[in-house]
Parts: sequence; structure tokens; C-alpha cells
Amino acid sequence: MKTAITGGAGFIGSHLVEHLLAAGDEVAVLDNLSTGRLENLKGVIGHRNFHFIEGTILDRDAVDKVVAGADRVFHLAAAVGVNLIVDHPLESLRTNIHGTEVVLDSVLESGASLLLASTSEIYGKNASDSLSEEADRILGSALKSRWTYAAAKGIDEAFAHAYWRQFGLPVAIVRLFNTVGPRQTGRYGMVVPRLVRQALAGEPLTVYGDGHQTRCFSYVGDIVPAIVRISEEPLAYGNAYNLGGSYEISILTLAERIVELLGSESVITLVPYEQAYSEGYEDMRRRVPDNSKSFELVGFDPKTTLDEIIRNVAADYKPAKVLDPAGWKITLAS
Ligand SMILES: NC(=O)c1ccc[n+]([C@@H]2O[C@H](COP(=O)([O-])OP(=O)(O)OC[C@H]3O[C@@H](n4cnc5c(N)ncnc54)[C@H](O)[C@@H]3O)[C@@H](O)[C@H]2O)c1
Repeated sequence: MKTAITGGAGFIGSHLVEHLLAAGDEVAVLDNLSTGRLENLKGVIGHRNFHFIEGTILDRDAVDKVVAGADRVFHLAAAVGVNLIVDHPLESLRTNIHGTEVVLDSVLESGASLLLASTSEIYGKNASDSLSEEADRILGSALKSRWTYAAAKGIDEAFAHAYWRQFGLPVAIVRLFNTVGPRQTGRYGMVVPRLVRQALAGEPLTVYGDGHQTRCFSYVGDIVPAIVRISEEPLAYGNAYNLGGSYEISILTLAERIVELLGSESVITLVPYEQAYSEGYEDMRRRVPDNSKSFELVGFDPKTTLDEIIRNVAADYKPAKVLDPAGWKITLAS
């Protein structure tokens, strides 16, 4: 099977690349290395079935080149992370809307199938007990940059759905809920790598707001195989599927768990949203997935615990340190 991946040098994309190469695919990646890094691909660079093109999804020629001959395409390239979106709203909108249109057009012409990575952010401030794929989207003002990511991904989904309805494009959508794991960077606002880094450095763990906002974290090692299985399921075409963790935790409790698990001396500090971002910043109080649709389709049932996730992120972050498997205390490597 020939597979093309946009955003394959990113956090999730690089795990997907490894997974597919191990399954015997020939994999071609297009990435502009904006938030992605070649370092993420160091385990596969030189692999005979791996090809890398540095370029942007805004460039139709570059997209055509990576899509050429592919049986399936995973579209993961996007401007991701609250900090990035707030700091570069225009560029982010262009990447996340126009870039997706370019990919859709190219894939339609090529005859491949497509998997579009969307996000739980599209549910916005809907704090229901468990968000099904049909749940309402409650977004803040269109003038607040914070919501442009959710708005753009919503448009992406609408585009993909329209290509399926009007042209029969075999496209499936996955909505990822706070996926975490090794290689994710905390630079653009991702909470787990940021808190883990702070705990390992002995710095205060900065928790935004009152810390009682909750999330359901899922492990990239559980998410990637589910994405692949969904992409292979014709019933998924024209549909969207939640993929999220099953355990709800407040960010304050998460920070406390990270400190405890990593044996850190760090304190936890609450930082007002206005200080962390800008005046009038809004966050979701709660975001809990209903995974039953993806469970029914492909048996999605994430097993990795939050403690395992934290340990794996910590082990990845400090290669000079090793985790003692007995006590999971951090000791310096000799
Ligand atoms: N990590 C999460 O929790 C999460 C949650 C919901 C949705 N997603 C979605 O999953 C996908 C992957 O996210 P990630 O967490 O791996 O983030 P990431 O930033 O690590 O990956 C995005 C990749 O896209 C590349 N990219 C950005 N703009 C590009 C452009 N114009 N042309 C080519 N490449 C470009 C980046 O360099 C990067 O390698 C994204 O579509 C994101 O919206 C992620």
C-alpha cells in the first residue's frame, strides 16, 4: 500500500509514519517543518520505503507530488496549538482552510482515499457529559482568534463532507481529543509536555485559570492504530469519529499527579488566563468524548493509563535521564 501523509514530521504524523512503515506501507510525507521536526523522523530517515518532501500544503504542485500514486492520504498538516493560533491568526486560517482545500482537490483528482484529522475543539464550549459526533458546537466570538482553529477545522469538515456528497470522495474524519505522548512539544500551548518539562526542570508548574477545567487525554500509541483502522473502513466515508481518552481529569489534578509521579520538588502556580494569553481569553471548562461510534466501527478502546502517558512523555523529554522501572523515579543516566 502506498500512503501519503501531510504533516508527517509532526507529533502524531511521525508516529503514524512509523506505524505504517512497520506494517509494510511505502510512505511519502509532505511537511513544511513549521511545528514539525526532522528529528521526529530520525528513526525512519533512510528507510527504503520512506520519502520526505519539504513543502507546504498551500502549494498545489507539492501536494500533487506527495499524493501521486498514493492509495490513501492522511491529512494531518495544520497550524496547531492555542499559542500559535492566537499569535498568527491569519497564517493559521490560511493553512487550516485553504491548505485543506488544496489537499481535497489533489486527492479527488488522484483517486486516493482521504483521512482528515479534525479536533474536539470544534465542540467549543459545549460541556456535556459526553460529546457525541452530533453534539452542538458552541463557539465564542468570531473576533477572538482563539476560536479560529475550531472554526477552520469545522469548515474543513464541511468541505470534506461536501466532497464526499457531491463527488463521492472517500473521505473519513477523525476528531482527536487532547492526544499526548512522546515528541509532542509544549511550545505552542500543549499542556502535558509543558507541565512535564516544568516538573523535570524543578520550575513551578503553571496551571491556567482555576485549574478545575477538565480534559480527557489519550495516548498517541492508542490513537494512531485507530486512525489507520478508520481510514480502512469504507463505512467511515462521509462520517466523523471521536477519538479521545476515557478518563476525565482537571488540569490541577493533572499537575499534582505529574509532580508526584516524577518525584519533582516543583510547586504548582495558578496563572490567570489573561496573563497566559490575552485579555478576554476563553477556555472550555470541560471536554468529554463519547467514543461509542469509533468503538462500534473499529473497536476503539484506549488502554494506556494517564500514569503511563506521563512516564512516557517524561522519558522522551529528558533523554539524559532514565526512568527507574521499579519506582518510576527519575535518576540520572550514568
Ligand atoms: N495533538 C492533539 O491533541 C490534536 C488534537 C486534535 C487534533 N489534532 C490534529 O492532528 C493533526 C496533527 O497534530 P499534531 O498534534 O501532530 O501537531 P504538530 O504541530 O506536531 O503537527 C502538524 C504538522 O503539520 C506541519 N505543517 C503545518 N503547516 C503546514 C503546511 N502549511 N504545510 C505542510 N506542513 C505543515 C507541521 O510542520 C507539523 O509537522 C493536526 O491536524 C491537528 O489539528 C491534534
